[in-house]
Amino acid sequence: MSGKIGISGALFLFLCLSELFGQKFDSIAMTPPMGWNGWNSFKCRINETVIREVANAMVTNGMMDAGYSYLVIDDCWQTGRDVNGTILADPVRFPSGMKILGDYIHSRGLKFGIYSDAGNSTCRGRPGSRGHELRDAMTYATWGVDYLKYDWCSHGTLDAESSYRLMRDALYKAGRPVVYSICEWGKNEPWQWGKDIGHLWRTTPDIINCFDCRNIWGGMGVLQIIDRMADLGSFAGPGHWNDADMLQVGNGNLTPAEERLHFSMWAMFSSPLIAGNDIRNMSEETLSILTNREVIAIDQDRLGISATRWLKSGDLEIWFKPLDRGEFAFCLINRGSRTITINQNLKTTISNHYTIDDSYVVRDLWKHKIIGNTSEILKGYLCPHDVLLISLTARVY
Ligand code: GAL
Repeated sequence: MSGKIGISGALFLFLCLSELFGQKFDSIAMTPPMGWNGWNSFKCRINETVIREVANAMVTNGMMDAGYSYLVIDDCWQTGRDVNGTILADPVRFPSGMKILGDYIHSRGLKFGIYSDAGNSTCRGRPGSRGHELRDAMTYATWGVDYLKYDWCSHGTLDAESSYRLMRDALYKAGRPVVYSICEWGKNEPWQWGKDIGHLWRTTPDIINCFDCRNIWGGMGVLQIIDRMADLGSFAGPGHWNDADMLQVGNGNLTPAEERLHFSMWAMFSSPLIAGNDIRNMSEETLSILTNREVIAIDQDRLGISATRWLKSGDLEIWFKPLDRGEFAFCLINRGSRTITINQNLKTTISNHYTIDDSYVVRDLWKHKIIGNTSEILKGYLCPHDVLLISLTARVY
């Protein structure tokens, strides 16, 4: 008898093994997920009316058309478990139940995201999924859940990698493709082990609504997160992203310049773009930042290469990101409180690999206009905490 098992035998073996060990759902999140999560603005003050109104707003205000698709309900939607251990939604805040809410979200053309925790309870003391992973995954599948943010509170002595793997396997077994968001705040370096487990992993403790600050729980402002992201780019790529946390755009504490800088840098890092403001009530300016398609295109670039800090000179930093079709983005940021004069030659070779000659058109992605080409020196001023985000595209002679 031949020792060969043939293609169908190999396939059968593969299916058995993946059934045994599980795997993550492939080919979803090939570009960074975009959506909304209420935590940064609502905390626990969510209910099904808010969620329905947010869904409606996402459809009518142009966010859905700009690429936002996941509507994620964060902590505090759950209250307990029934006698069988099935997780229960808060009957006061979500009287219609999650299946009906999920159906509504889907009926608007959006995707439904939910939150749980790898420990016994969530960060706000609600039931976690520990010991109930498969039951929860199957429940989510019946509700039509498309995205799970999985937190790390009350984990005790659990090991992060195996805990996240356990829920990955449960989701896979439940059979409904789910984008799996690892939220353990970067504590156990998930960029080292997360690629085959989740589709995105948080790199930091919680983002704070400030440009340049920290809090005692390790929370970080925009600049602190940028610095944390700086060395992690090589770990991310299509299907597995460094998550710089949900956006603070529109939450009232950043200046318009700081918001543009924040949004630009998240795009430069190919971080998920998860709006975190009350999108039912936002200014035109906030909406125009969140829906700037030229910036979103940098985030969603097919190659998914994260930016590197190319130059640093005092408070001026220039970040560089290679794009599809031989194009590039540069992001100049002013971290300080004084206006900076820009006088920069962009013709260069970066990492011995990317050569920028004088054949590129330079476009300002916030002003939406061409501002020159690479045969010229880039000149201008950068106000405090402001940003200049440019793309370099081939010149047509
Ligand atoms: C934190 C998490 C936040 C939010 C919160 C809910 O651990 O980083 O993004 O989900 O829990 O309690």
